[in-house]
Amino acid sequence: MSRLSVPKDRLRVVLVEGIAETAVGGLAAAGYANVERIAGAPSGEALRRLIKDVHVLGIRSNTRLTADIIAAGERLFAIGCFCIGTNQVDLAAAKLAGIPVFNAPYSNTRSVAELVLGEMIMLLRRIPEKTRLIDAGRWQKTAGGAHEIRGRTLGIVGYGHIGSQLSILAEALGMHVRYYDIVEKLALGLARPCASLHDLLGLADVVSLHVPGTPETRGMIGAAEIARMPPGAILINAARGDVVDVAALAAAMRDGHLAGAAVDVFPSEPKTEAEPFDSPLRGLANVILTPHVGGSTEEAQAGIGSEVAEKLIKYSDNGSTIGAVNFVEVALPVQRGVTRFLHIHRNVPGVLAKVNDVFSARGLNIAAQYLRTDAEIGYVVSDIDAVIEEGMGIRRDLAAIDGTIRVRFLY
Ligand code: NAI
Repeated sequence: MSRLSVPKDRLRVVLVEGIAETAVGGLAAAGYANVERIAGAPSGEALRRLIKDVHVLGIRSNTRLTADIIAAGERLFAIGCFCIGTNQVDLAAAKLAGIPVFNAPYSNTRSVAELVLGEMIMLLRRIPEKTRLIDAGRWQKTAGGAHEIRGRTLGIVGYGHIGSQLSILAEALGMHVRYYDIVEKLALGLARPCASLHDLLGLADVVSLHVPGTPETRGMIGAAEIARMPPGAILINAARGDVVDVAALAAAMRDGHLAGAAVDVFPSEPKTEAEPFDSPLRGLANVILTPHVGGSTEEAQAGIGSEVAEKLIKYSDNGSTIGAVNFVEVALPVQRGVTRFLHIHRNVPGVLAKVNDVFSARGLNIAAQYLRTDAEIGYVVSDIDAVIEEGMGIRRDLAAIDGTIRVRFLY
């Protein structure tokens, strides 16, 4: 059989913004030898020139891929965001160009859970207050108001990836775990659900928030909710800045209703180190403020590198789009002894029949076929168990079907 597609070692993969070494290792192990790493975040003309003959592009949060830049990627067929967020990419434009975008939404789950666990211990012992005093030369050696976390009740709001991970860790240290989620979730270990947020707030010594940013979670914890928490309780927010009314939290810390708080995310956060940070929470005793570093560890970065590389490899090697944030998701088995044709098209009627005509006109048998559509696009994958010779014109005829966005084949 003749070689029909671009061999893996010639596919040009470019990773910008200092993406972790684990990504290069993963790609190399899968046979992607042509991987180039660039330290900074290219923009403007430099990015347009760079993207022109790149097949797979890996970025982090500082490289903006607008519709215009994506259109300049003549060979681009996959984008990896080696981070959590993807709003630096025009996802709709990428989709209409037939380019799935992958990210790593959960690689930093453990890092966030560990930080929260550490903060609970520190706050229950009133350590932030003590370190401030000792820094100022004051030796306050007292047990007053300092507690073990063993036997305390932790209330987790949002029992998803982070919330449930925290549940396990906290229970291992002897905490009682209660949680509230809008979706029914399997309780891990001895954790028990609460019927409402109101119930949870009334019984927890420590409340930790792990909900996404949605219209429902905006302002979810205001003055009334804080007042519902028992006197001396602790509030931790490592979810989204606008979930908590920070003025109400600051007031509850000042009047002593709450004994401590840890906040990693803020309604308005500086974009760079040069920008100043301000918040009503600054300067309060027994408060830990951190600059949105809940998920920022070297382990999380390494995990992100391998997770996104893995998704890119799966898509490039066998067409699977599982984990794509802007694309119909298709989980495909590894193709063995077949040639796999990937056809991405605008979702107009009749494309599947025309794709099948291309094969049946040549007497080719379709061993398996997978199709997913959404309102805008369709993705049909056809496995052909016959020898495909160069010159059969299959690719040309698939590309000529009205509505075709992209054709790729793998063997
Ligand atoms: P996830 O999607 O796995 O879990 C979120 C959970 O919240 C889900 O179980 C969902 O059903 C629940 N939920 C949604 N709306 C709710 C509501 N109104 N009331 C109660 N529960 C609700 O998300 P994951 O990965 O656990 O992340 C949670 C939060 O942590 C997100 O806001 C994310 O942005 C934030 N995060 C913060 C980081 C940091 O550096 N501080 C790093 C990573 C994530």
